[in-house]
This record gives sequence, C-alpha cells and structure tokens, in this order.
Amino acid sequence: MHFDLKFSKPIEEIIESRISRRTYKKDSIDAKVLGKLSDLIKEPFVGPLDGKSRFIIVDKEPLNSDEKIRIGTYGMIIGAKNFIVGIIDKNENKLEDFGYNFEKIILKSSEIGLDTCWLGAKFTGRDFEKKANILGNEYIPAISPIGYALDNPDARESILSWGIKARKRKAWSRLFFSNNFGTSLEKLDNDTYSRALEMVRIAPSARNEQPWRIVRDSNDNYHFYIHLRLKRKEVRIPTLKRIDLGIAMCHFDLTLQERGIHGKWFVDDPKINTEKSNLYYISSWSRK
Ligand SMILES: Cc1cc2nc3c(=O)[nH]c(=O)nc-3n(C[C@H](O)[C@H](O)[C@H](O)COP(=O)(O)O)c2cc1C
Repeated sequence: MHFDLKFSKPIEEIIESRISRRTYKKDSIDAKVLGKLSDLIKEPFVGPLDGKSRFIIVDKEPLNSDEKIRIGTYGMIIGAKNFIVGIIDKNENKLEDFGYNFEKIILKSSEIGLDTCWLGAKFTGRDFEKKANILGNEYIPAISPIGYALDNPDARESILSWGIKARKRKAWSRLFFSNNFGTSLEKLDNDTYSRALEMVRIAPSARNEQPWRIVRDSNDNYHFYIHLRLKRKEVRIPTLKRIDLGIAMCHFDLTLQERGIHGKWFVDDPKINTEKSNLYYISSWSRK
C-alpha cells in the first residue's frame, strides 16, 4: 500500500523553485504527463504518523475561458482545467500526514514542470466531492490546480501575492530554537540539518503564516510545534495549520533523506515550556 515518490532532480532545487500560481494557460497538460502523475499517486498514501490519505486528479472544464473558480479560502484560480484532490477519512483526520503526503505530490508535479497552488478546500463546491467520488466517511481538506501557468502573473495574481507577501518568509531566529523557546538555534554553513530547516523555512503555508516552530534538544531530536496567533481555551488546532505542519515535516524529512539521514517520527510531548507563546506540540523527529 505505501509507496514512495522518487525524485530525479535534487529536492532542494525543487523546493527552492516552487511557487504558487493562480492563473493558468489554456493549454492542456500532455496526456502522457497526466497519465504518469495519475499512476504515481493512485495508491493510498500512509504518512509518517501513520495517517492515510488518497489523491485523485479530476478535470474541471471551465464553463468559459475566463471562469474564476472560487475555491480555497482566499485567492482565485483562473483557467486551470485539472486539479489534484486530496481526501482523508473524517474519523482518522490525520491532517499532518495529509499535508506531508500532498506536499510530496506538489513537489513531484513541480519536478515534471507543472504549476500548482495549495488551496485549503473549506469552500470547495460539492462538484469536487462528486468528481472525486468521495465516500460518506471522507472529506477533502485541500486541493491544487495543476497545469501550465501564464508566463507572467496577471494583475489579480500579482496583487494577491503582494497582499499576502507570498515571497517573504520569517527570519530563521523566529522559527528554530535550541532546547527551549528562549534560545534561537544557530544556523551553520554546510550543515545538513541547517539545510533541512532552511527548506522548512521557505515552505508554503496557508496565508503564508509559517506557523511552524522547531526546537532541537540536546539529544538532537527535533520537536515540531504550531504557533497560533491567539491563545485558545480549547486546543483545537485549525485544519490548515495542521496541514502546514505536515508540509514542514515533509521538507525536513525529504531534505535529510536525500542527504542520507533517515529518521523516525513520533508523538511524545517533550514538555518544553511554551507557557507565554501560544505554542502547541505536534510531533518529533529523531535519527534512526
Ligand atoms: C494549506 C494551504 C492552504 C492554502 N490555501 C490557499 C487558498 O485558499 N487560496 C490561495 O490563493 N492560496 C492558498 N495557499 C497558498 C499560500 O498562500 C502560499 O503557499 C503562500 O502564500 C506562500 O507562497 P508560495 O507558495 O508562492 O511560496 C495555501 C497554502 C497552503 C499550504
């Protein structure tokens, strides 16, 4: 059941060159390319925390060439004909695994020359549910258009990217810590772990909020946390934030794996003091 998407280009190059695109050319994706991608993703995926997700490519023929598809939680997708639809079981609801697996597919799509844009599928129409034939116990947390984007983003796309500061990322010192949240982790040149964290830093996230925070402890375990802007009385982490964390885990893991470092993921709260900072523990990584 579990299978691996192998990359033939260096993963860091793919991560560095991927950007979200929202306006697509009319050109259809080459049937062979589409067939190859469908084939690659047809088996269900199991994530690093054992959650299952499945993915399917559906076509969404625009009603007319300028149809704006109102999906996702913000932004607008124009002209895309094909979408990858991500599906999980409501009862299992392992959204970090979902994010991890979907990001692999997004990166694979980038590698084969397709443009994408993560879309939190909160307002996705029933259309996608029907097209993807989802079952009663399933739902669609996110989708992405795939295709060939316009060479230059049009005005609407540029304004949106500007509005959410799409290319900007938080400084390293605000994201990565040593032993506790009071001490920033030093970034080292030519260091594999620093590279893996840098690949997390530049990852995509909903509204570009980059909610991931990571603490390395003295045993070289890496603990992943979500940062929420508001302190919650009841800790129910929003769906998109959990997906963002899965994306961060994916970038961290794939970068290390390509550099020959293999680890395991587990959930065991290290009880690092998070009192003042709206941080919620998600998962940990340690070297195998
Ligand atoms: C879980 C998730 C949900 C997203 N939802 C939307 C969305 O609904 N609409 C949209 O236009 N972009 C969406 N995005 C794309 C982000 O805005 C984008 O990744 C971020 O601004 C960084 O820009 P970049 O992807 O070009 O690096 C989403 C991204 C993620 C990871």
